[in-house]
Amino acid sequence: MTIYSLSRSFKTSVERTPRVLEVAESFGLGLSDKEFTLYDELELDIRASDVVYITGQSGSGKSMLLKDLAAEMRKDGLKVVDLNEVELKDKPVIELVGKNVTEATEILSRAGISDAWIFLRKPSELSDGQRYRLKLALVMEADADVWIADEFGAVLDRVTAKSVAYNMAKVARRQGKTFMVATTHDDMTEELAPSVFIEKLFNDRIEVLCERYEEEDPPQMLMAAE
Ligand SMILES: Nc1ncnc2c1ncn2[C@@H]1O[C@H](COP(=O)(O)OP(=O)(O)O)[C@@H](O)[C@H]1O
Ligand SMILES: [Mg+2]
Repeated sequence: MTIYSLSRSFKTSVERTPRVLEVAESFGLGLSDKEFTLYDELELDIRASDVVYITGQSGSGKSMLLKDLAAEMRKDGLKVVDLNEVELKDKPVIELVGKNVTEATEILSRAGISDAWIFLRKPSELSDGQRYRLKLALVMEADADVWIADEFGAVLDRVTAKSVAYNMAKVARRQGKTFMVATTHDDMTEELAPSVFIEKLFNDRIEVLCERYEEEDPPQMLMAAE
């Protein structure tokens, strides 16, 4: 178990161009340097097998939180794979994951790619949504401890986003990975079944809900009657 302690604030300093001054005057905004805080000594207990679902409005600090958490986890020695950093080789999709065709199709289908014709295309020939799902497949394959996806499912329709969320969360839990997503969409609670749910509100406000179920008792061995 690791508790991560996170703080992040920014100065409000702005470059004083003529237009900046005009806007400041029109809207009555002071331009003296202040600080705004996104979170201050926020303590998060995040463990292997946790699904962490971060939601909140645009600009509330979700991406920052995900980035800071990832940095702390890397410092802690964990291997973190970030969906936004996945690079795609210029080869047919079926060549990009798995040790063989069977494994490749299995991983791709978990990421929501099951049309055979997509298997044969190269990443540059795919739609944004298809490319996104391919990246998710590579994230699952990267042999990392932690998977992170900012703007999770943003380029997918809601039905696909939810189905991919369900599959990835299931695989993550089964493989003991920590899966952390951030998105303004708050409609995936059922599919992700997160153990840590974080709603980032404006300024330094944040709500954290932790629902971790105790491990089930190991199945009892049946004793043979003597
Ligand atoms: N380098 C920076 N300097 C100043 N403010 C920043 C910087 N990076 C992000 N911010 C501010 O921090 C807030 C949170 O940003 P972000 O985490 O990207 O929000 P979200 O992902 O929830 O949309 C925003 O108000 C943004 O303008
Ligand atoms: Mg963001």
